[in-house]
Amino acid sequence: MKKLRVGVLASGRGSNLQALLHQSLAGKIDVEVAVVISDVEDALALSRARAAGVPAVYVPPGKFRTKLEPESEKEYVETLLTHGVEVVVLAGFMRILHDDFLNAFPDKVVNIHPSLLPAFPGLNVQKKAIDCGVKWSGATVHFVNAGVDAGPIILQAVVPVLDDDTPETLAARILVEEHRIYPEALQLIAEKRIRIDGRRVIGEPPPTTGESR
Ligand code: GAR
Repeated sequence: MKKLRVGVLASGRGSNLQALLHQSLAGKIDVEVAVVISDVEDALALSRARAAGVPAVYVPPGKFRTKLEPESEKEYVETLLTHGVEVVVLAGFMRILHDDFLNAFPDKVVNIHPSLLPAFPGLNVQKKAIDCGVKWSGATVHFVNAGVDAGPIILQAVVPVLDDDTPETLAARILVEEHRIYPEALQLIAEKRIRIDGRRVIGEPPPTTGESR
């Protein structure tokens, strides 16, 4: 099967990127990381990409703190297109993307978030989950739309919130699940096994024998 070419956007540690590279390089998923772009020049994610032989590009974000400047956003799109990217994978990318970006990749931008969306969008979500007293939290992979941590949900994984949890211990438990479900969600896209229907992501029936995908 032809591999799905993805471009990963990451601002920091890049452990989700690493999980994806691992599965991809081991041939366990039909996904190839074509390029990694960061808004942070010394992001560990860029070093991880280089170590795996994947093009790693720093594109300065411009003067804003939570979004990209329009000129910079254009450069992100151009870099992704230059590398033949079909699906954009946000992996700890801490900036909001606007319409020009999303329209360049319609229904082809995905994100992972460390809560059971729509509960706890935004930042510091493990602390919010603990403070709120929920007994279960988890991770969500979703398509990105113009909202923050919104958009149709592809996969979720659930973990318990324990009485003695700190934001750090809960984050670590959730991260294990993130590393499992992100590659799995991308494989569903690579195999064209899902489609968006309004707010919902619906499974496609498996192809009949002999049909090429
Ligand atoms: C992950 O926990 C991811 O879910 C979260 O940032 C972390 C990045 O870790 N993303 C968000 O909060 C997006 N709203 P990583 O750099 O090690 O993959």
